[in-house]
Amino acid sequence: MRVGVLTGGGDCPGLNAVIRAIVRKGVQEYGYDFIGFRDGWRGPLEGETVPLSIPAVRGILPRGGTILGSSRTNPLTTEHGVRRIKGNLAKYEVDALVTIGGEDTLGVAATLSDEYGIPCVGVPKTIDNDLSATDYTFGFDTAVGIATEAIDRLHTTAESHMRVLVVEVMGRHAGWIALHSGLAGGANVILIPEQRFDIDQVCAWVTSRFRASYAPIVVVAEGAMPAEGKMILKDESHDSFGHVRLSGVGEWLAKEIERRTGKEARTTVLGHVQRGGTPSAFDRWLATRFGLHAIEAVRDGDCGVMVALRGTDIVRVPIADATARLKTVDPTLYAEVGVFFG
Ligand code: F6P
Repeated sequence: MRVGVLTGGGDCPGLNAVIRAIVRKGVQEYGYDFIGFRDGWRGPLEGETVPLSIPAVRGILPRGGTILGSSRTNPLTTEHGVRRIKGNLAKYEVDALVTIGGEDTLGVAATLSDEYGIPCVGVPKTIDNDLSATDYTFGFDTAVGIATEAIDRLHTTAESHMRVLVVEVMGRHAGWIALHSGLAGGANVILIPEQRFDIDQVCAWVTSRFRASYAPIVVVAEGAMPAEGKMILKDESHDSFGHVRLSGVGEWLAKEIERRTGKEARTTVLGHVQRGGTPSAFDRWLATRFGLHAIEAVRDGDCGVMVALRGTDIVRVPIADATARLKTVDPTLYAEVGVFFG
């Protein structure tokens, strides 16, 4: 049995831990052979491979990024994409493909499995934690830890200068990182994409915080939007690869807060710092368990499924269940943290 492995979409801490667990268990317990595909779906599309064996995965557990590389290539929108993938899987004699990815990568895996009979097993990853059908994705805990540490540090400099500090975190469609790090870091305002914000209300919270002689910290997810009025973003277009870029809400907020309250404001955009570096212990644990269960699913011939965390159990769900809709922050949960605003 030969198993292919790929990592697609934005990278996140814990990818290497999954790869290591898949290979270790697959070789040691089942005697399988492995082949890595480079840069997500680009690998099977173009037939670009990476050797994958026990020596190749030695020492990678704590390493961020992915030894296989990643990309957002989508074979379903590439000419003869499915045919080329089938051809390369046959060429390399691959019997099953473990696809580690987020919404887009797994969406492709679901289609290839369900409609074209290509045997895929999915492993969910994203720092955004916005995949349905799993309680958590690995990468999220690490990103929240990094954002929380940044907020802790920004508190002291905000207090020294009595300034507003706006922290922009990742999350285009879901505010999980903003919500968790904002709550853990004692932010005074948390803004998420799921709920449009009222800039007057934000300024009122900022002012009330100053009145209590504290400097406010505003945590904003990159996809958060004001309720009304045009938000002129620095760059709301597409980059040269055609990806949507949303950076700018943090800077916009700082300028508006300064203009409306007369208080000095600064912005910190955490960006890809949230995705880099070594995974937290929780993410190593979750990624490893996902890897062990994914290779079991391969052994069982259970294709078109994704491993998922339910409570403390790892279960299998149809990949399509995870990609059908995004898991966003529930309004009740958001309302719960509102008691700390202002
Ligand atoms: O999906 C993960 C994510 O980190 C998002 O939070 C963020 O908006 C996006 O990827 C950034 O993508 P890129 O690295 O392609 O700029």
